[in-house]
Amino acid sequence: MGRLGAVTDKPFLYVVVCAAGVAVDADELITAAQARNWDVGVIATPQGLGFLDAAAVEARTGYPVRSAWRAPGDPRPLPDPDAIAVAPATFNTVNKWAAGIADTLAVATLCEAYGAGVPTAVLPCVNDKLAAHPAYGASLERLREMGVAIADGRPEPGVDTFPWERVLDLLPSPSPS
Ligand SMILES: Cc1cc2nc3c(=O)[nH]c(=O)nc-3n(C[C@H](O)[C@H](O)[C@H](O)COP(=O)(O)O)c2cc1C
Repeated sequence: MGRLGAVTDKPFLYVVVCAAGVAVDADELITAAQARNWDVGVIATPQGLGFLDAAAVEARTGYPVRSAWRAPGDPRPLPDPDAIAVAPATFNTVNKWAAGIADTLAVATLCEAYGAGVPTAVLPCVNDKLAAHPAYGASLERLREMGVAIADGRPEPGVDTFPWERVLDLLPSPSPS
């Protein structure tokens, strides 16, 4: 399955969505990215897919939501990325990404992005108890060394919404069309 709407020449952003509760509001990030002139395609982890309204995301982006590898010989459903935003990023995906355990399309895409030199930013949604695990800090450090930009996923004091736009702030700005 390919592009559902009109093809544009805008820069293309992959939004990688993991299985955190806030993923139900990922539409906020997609809308904000489109307002910044990104064309957007979503790759969800298999667990993350359960938090998304895939039909609504596809209607908003014009592209199928990807989660599994395509079959050999099938066309590539999304253009190559100019940048990648990982939000929300789970404890699980952050640790697998840093360790190179590419057992989901989402993590495999992130692992390849390093080799391809694609600018990548991550907005973790990880509670304090999980964040205290020594593997997590080591994973973030490894990702930093790889050139990944890491946003603070903790909301502002007194604000209970997830700070989606911080991940976009860490990526190169697409030029206006
Ligand atoms: C309702 C619900 C909310 C969750 N929220 C989070 C979360 O905010 N952060 C997190 O790291 N894991 C969270 N989890 C656990 C992840 O879904 C679980 O670790 C999963 O294996 C992550 O898969 P993924 O990294 O491939 O998306 C949540 C699970 C459920 C059921």
